[in-house]
Amino acid sequence: MNIIEERTRRTKWFMEARFGMFIHWGLYAIPARGEWIRSTERITAEEYYKYFEEFNPTAFDPKSWARAAREAGMQYAVMTTKHHDGFCLFDSELTDFKSTNTKAGRDLIREYVDAFRAEGLKVGFYYSLIDWHHEDYPAYGDQNHPMRDNEAFKGKQHNFDRYLEYMHGQVKELCTRYGKIDIMWFDFSYGDMAGEKWRASELVKMVRTCQPDIILDNRLETGGHGFGSIKTRNPSFYSGDFASPEQVIPPEGITDEEGNPIPWEACITMNNHWGYCSDDKLFKSPKLIIRKLVECVSKNGNLLLNAGPDAYGRIPDESLEILSEIGKWMRKNGSSIYSCGKASFEKPEWGYFTQKGKFLYAHIFDGNIGPLPIPVPAERIKKARLVADGSEMKLNQAWNVAEFPDYSFINFGPVESFTYPLPDDIDTVVEFELI
Ligand code: GLC
Repeated sequence: MNIIEERTRRTKWFMEARFGMFIHWGLYAIPARGEWIRSTERITAEEYYKYFEEFNPTAFDPKSWARAAREAGMQYAVMTTKHHDGFCLFDSELTDFKSTNTKAGRDLIREYVDAFRAEGLKVGFYYSLIDWHHEDYPAYGDQNHPMRDNEAFKGKQHNFDRYLEYMHGQVKELCTRYGKIDIMWFDFSYGDMAGEKWRASELVKMVRTCQPDIILDNRLETGGHGFGSIKTRNPSFYSGDFASPEQVIPPEGITDEEGNPIPWEACITMNNHWGYCSDDKLFKSPKLIIRKLVECVSKNGNLLLNAGPDAYGRIPDESLEILSEIGKWMRKNGSSIYSCGKASFEKPEWGYFTQKGKFLYAHIFDGNIGPLPIPVPAERIKKARLVADGSEMKLNQAWNVAEFPDYSFINFGPVESFTYPLPDDIDTVVEFELI
């Protein structure tokens, strides 16, 4: 099989799963201003070390995280094993800057994989290629490093090959000591820090040798801003298996240069921070997130929704409430999400279509005056059902729609020409079995 055929084989489960949980957690939960504070506030390694000495997440309960994810209808999860700050949430033999050396004294990643697998979810690792703690990672003049404009670091020597040995060694630890890993989510490339600068071919060869069915994101070549060679006719060996648009839903989905759809996953936060940020209360509504999940699937994409646990290891109540509300909708309507993708019909005005073989799902966001027009001729429709409860939806023959034969019409009340409220004002889903 060629690289695209291999990618299609590996991502089959991923394209069916559609919805996952992202988890950003680490020392940065203590200052509680997001995961970039070392960089944005120019915090030195010495100043940051006090959080390492303090870290003691007494409420860490990954089983409760896994239950919340499953009950929200999520099918997989991706958790930070090491973020840009270099702190390892797993028991790496290659560093002392790790969770097992904190007051926690636990391999947090081990407990995460065990808990999420027990709930039937697939497990992924986020691993930062960037490492602001490692002495051999370039600092002065780097684009992002906390000490990038600190004169004390000017001229400091770095043995980047030694850093790459460390980085590759940790990735191998993650790929050989935690059982079957379903996703490796590298983050991120920038400027000339991309591709073979990371010794990407060697890295991917090792990962795929250790985990033959694993899928990779595209960030050995790019960041959340770009796609890399996965979009080209000749994707590189390390182009990854899916594109990872960040905090945006691609307006038309993502295809390669020849117009073929490529797997993609939009990663979004519930508020505006990946890592815990105590004063960021701008949480998105469950309604918005559900509608964005539908939009992703209607464009052949996935949604990876982030939770940022606090210093104690608790997912914020606001996030748990959002997940709970999403789960209520998913339990009734998940069949219109899982294993669904872009429909063979144009997007309707009142919402979106998703499709799974002969089943076309109308996701109706906007109410209507009288009968709702479905841009599918009646002769194409064998039957229609309200997905939430399986109830029959009769195709409408109201006196005022006879002039529109290219459309079918449905209504949510007994009198065909009357106007009725939608059963679900988040997203009312009707399943059409096509002929
Ligand atoms: C960006 C941020 C990083 C975050 C990632 C999630 O790369 O730098 O903090 O983990 O987006 O997609």
